[in-house]
Amino acid sequence: MQNPVIVALDVPTADQALQLAAQLAPVVGAFKIGSELFTSAGPDIVRRIRAAEGAVFLDLKFHDIPNTVAKAVAAATRLDVQMLTIHTSGGLEMMRAAETAAQETARQLGRPAPLVLGVTVLTSMDAKNLSEIGVHGEVGPQVERLASLAAQAGLRGLVCSPLEIAGLRRILPKEMQLVTPGIRTGAEKADDQKRTLTPREAISLGANWLVIGRPIYAATNPRAAAEAIATSLGDGR
Ligand code: C5P
Repeated sequence: MQNPVIVALDVPTADQALQLAAQLAPVVGAFKIGSELFTSAGPDIVRRIRAAEGAVFLDLKFHDIPNTVAKAVAAATRLDVQMLTIHTSGGLEMMRAAETAAQETARQLGRPAPLVLGVTVLTSMDAKNLSEIGVHGEVGPQVERLASLAAQAGLRGLVCSPLEIAGLRRILPKEMQLVTPGIRTGAEKADDQKRTLTPREAISLGANWLVIGRPIYAATNPRAAAEAIATSLGDGR
């Protein structure tokens, strides 16, 4: 397995992101560009990281009508990202349109299709928040329902919380790639992540990729932090 660590570049400027990317490229597997960085720095930040050979996970969580999502996914594929996110709650047809757009656009360009990852229930939502938007019942069954729908739509990957890995592995095809944030090594200060696992625990439960932000970019020495994580995974992979 290649290096499963995806560093979240949750910084506000292109300069900060590029500086981190240059420092971390040899010791991580990919860079996640989210809404803050993309909105402030624009698609050029993706091109610049790709030009430096970094793999890019574009985390914009598309959620719209199928035609619009398909066009956004096609545009992301032309930008040459390796992973991107959509909301599974957009429904079966929307997910199918997204996967087809990724495959078709990549085929026309003669490159591998990006991994379209489904986001199920945001970890900021609990059963009360779900019932406020008309979804009754616990979070777990809703995550499983959306995950199964994503598999039915042909998605090849999902984003899930550390606590969902084991349950999803039981119900999903084994080829489904699981990408997991909420990773903490124990060395960093506490922050807003409430349910966490170490990198090694998440991989042994069945995660394929780990999204790690603050434990790397906010460390005194980000490169040393990323190297320590890679070492901790050593024979655990
Ligand atoms: O700094 P930290 O390691 O908590 O960063 C985690 C990254 O993963 C952030 O970019 C955050 O937006 C994202 N994420 C998350 N929890 C989710 C989904 C995404 O922390 N459920």
